[in-house]
Amino acid sequence: PIEERITLLMNQMTLEEKVGQMNQYNGFWDVTGPAPKGGSSELKYEHLRKGWVGSMLTVRGAKQVRAVQKIAVEETRLGIPLIIGFDVIHGYKTLSPIPLAEAASWDLEAIEKSAAIAADEASASGINWTFGPNADISRDARWGRVMEGAGEDPYLGSKIATARVKGFQGENLAANNTIAACAKHFAGYGFAESGRDYNTVDMSHSMLYNTVLPPFKAAKDAGVRTMMNAFNILNGIPATGNSFLQREILKGKWQFDGFIVSDWASVREMIAHGFAKNEADAAEKAVKAGSDMDMESHIYVAELVKLVYDKKVDVALIDDAVRRILRVKFELGLFDDPYKYCDEAREKAVIGSKANHDGVLDMAKKSIVLLKNENNLLPLKKSGQKIALIGALANDKNSPLGSWRIASDDNTAVSVLEGMQQYKGNQLTYEKGTDVTVGKTTFVQELIFNTTDKSGFEKAKNAAKNADVVVMVLGEHGFQSGEGRSRTNLDLPGNQQELLEEIFKVNKNIVLVLNNGRPLTIPWASENIPTIVEAWQLGSQTGNAVAQVLYGDYNPSGKLPMSFPRNVGQVPIYYNNYSTGRPIDSDKNVFWSHYSDVEKTPLYPFGHGLSYTIFEYSNLKINKTSFAKGETIKISVTISNTGKYDGKEVIQLYIRDLAGSLARPIKELKGFELVNLKKGESKTIHFTLTEAELGFYDNDGNFLVEPGTFKVFVGTSSTDVLESEFELK
Ligand code: IFM
Repeated sequence: PIEERITLLMNQMTLEEKVGQMNQYNGFWDVTGPAPKGGSSELKYEHLRKGWVGSMLTVRGAKQVRAVQKIAVEETRLGIPLIIGFDVIHGYKTLSPIPLAEAASWDLEAIEKSAAIAADEASASGINWTFGPNADISRDARWGRVMEGAGEDPYLGSKIATARVKGFQGENLAANNTIAACAKHFAGYGFAESGRDYNTVDMSHSMLYNTVLPPFKAAKDAGVRTMMNAFNILNGIPATGNSFLQREILKGKWQFDGFIVSDWASVREMIAHGFAKNEADAAEKAVKAGSDMDMESHIYVAELVKLVYDKKVDVALIDDAVRRILRVKFELGLFDDPYKYCDEAREKAVIGSKANHDGVLDMAKKSIVLLKNENNLLPLKKSGQKIALIGALANDKNSPLGSWRIASDDNTAVSVLEGMQQYKGNQLTYEKGTDVTVGKTTFVQELIFNTTDKSGFEKAKNAAKNADVVVMVLGEHGFQSGEGRSRTNLDLPGNQQELLEEIFKVNKNIVLVLNNGRPLTIPWASENIPTIVEAWQLGSQTGNAVAQVLYGDYNPSGKLPMSFPRNVGQVPIYYNNYSTGRPIDSDKNVFWSHYSDVEKTPLYPFGHGLSYTIFEYSNLKINKTSFAKGETIKISVTISNTGKYDGKEVIQLYIRDLAGSLARPIKELKGFELVNLKKGESKTIHFTLTEAELGFYDNDGNFLVEPGTFKVFVGTSSTDVLESEFELK
């Protein structure tokens, strides 16, 4: 009966009230204080009371949300509740690892749980809608927002988008601890040219269908209730004014019945793009293209009513958008109890609870990737050692929280130093060495990197000289990646590389712990430093997670969700590339696809990640050599833990379609399995492939399954695999 309730309500709504539902404002004044006088806040307040606001974002806190909701419910003519949106990207107050780090776990259950914790806290604080998950595939580490996504691969990205949607929305959207999810940014935003945020996106339709859209489709299939469009143009048309994306694909082919919100002011930005003449034109183009809600452009509320009266916009389009928005509000149960998320007692009990901290700690440990471990420097011995801990990031309680975390309190992460101090059997000395950034580090401010001050080098070297093992925590500050944080240089920022090399001169037993929101270029470290741990930005429990991994209380099992380039000139770099006509160095002349100054392979490939134990793969088998169309292909492999520790391994399955009507990538991930193995244990793992995995989209969006030879690769990373093949008739 939700649809009937919507119809009954819409029958009572004026056109202005309908357009109001399509208008979203940012939080505009301290809602517990007096009503604002003057400026845009006063106007927003007036609109709210008239019923011309359907949603607000960034208002947070049970009390604050109750106050705005009260105006919508008690002071407007029809009392339609607001839907309250917020960027709950990797936790609300208790922070889980940045999404790219979570993706490195390949642990879908853990990722779902992490999203559920975020939903639990956000919903206790008045929020009922998150602007997540970020489903943007990206292969360009220069783009700062790779930290918010699941990396470079559409298959892994789809599984993770599904897990996050399920985690946020739960089984029952009407429960008071679940929130509506929003897959964003539809579409192509992760392919910004040259990695510069908001930049042009131009790509073939087959690339769009095969690489960019699958995670959104997966989110849709998982029941995501909203999607956000994007800032970028796609093949000349802004995503916000893109009818092909929003009407033809999303609402047409995919039958998506939730609503689409614009990105912040992206309706207005169509004027700057050179796609809309003025505000009225922007409103007309956006609504016709299927953008249902206007986030902070203030254009729908100003223009749409007149556009309908002038017969430029059909009222049916407005009705469709409003129905979609009301549908989600009904599903959330807001009409039954508009204050259901505004329970201050629950807010107190849930936010920062022990259970939530335990949950994000578990996620943080699972997100760590062991890139290199020569000489078995790790795990560290628990006693009798002198450990020098070096690097400003080791003693930082803010940076590990990462970017996009606007509800969290600053300086609340457990630092690596604090985590290491829990292990009391060793003698621990800390030295900063150098700073990573200079001056203020805030979410909105451009950061400055310290390139000159070396005054801390000597002390750090002295500490290193006297140590058995040096743990160096180096990398990016948490605000160095994220929105608007594109970089053309992916080296360790500031003079951290110099510090690393100086320390290496006095002690070669270095464990390098990387903190970063994107792949970095670390060729020197990879060549010289025996042990490298990728620890990203791991959220509130960073220090505990890192220490437990370094000390071997947790055996790392993460795998890279993005390839690490050797240098920035290789970017974009990704494992599922095309062969080219000249893939191999066959004749020793220059006329093959390569660089003359650096190998073309990544420094660390997609899917790479070690363990303290050793896994051996054998017996890759396919149940037949030849299959008829529609038959299921069964693949098995044996994995043995031949090392000294119990451990977990992500077994990865890739395929290659050797010849297609469109050239196919040299490898495509089509399955993975997370397996626990006790030391000495062996298991046989089974995979299946169906047409869904074997086919691909052509440039018209048709899904094709073509006969031919398929290679199958199973192994520990995208490059370290066993190989077999079969024929599809
Ligand atoms: O959700 C975000 C989006 O990802 C970038 N622009 C602002 C939105 C709301 O904060």
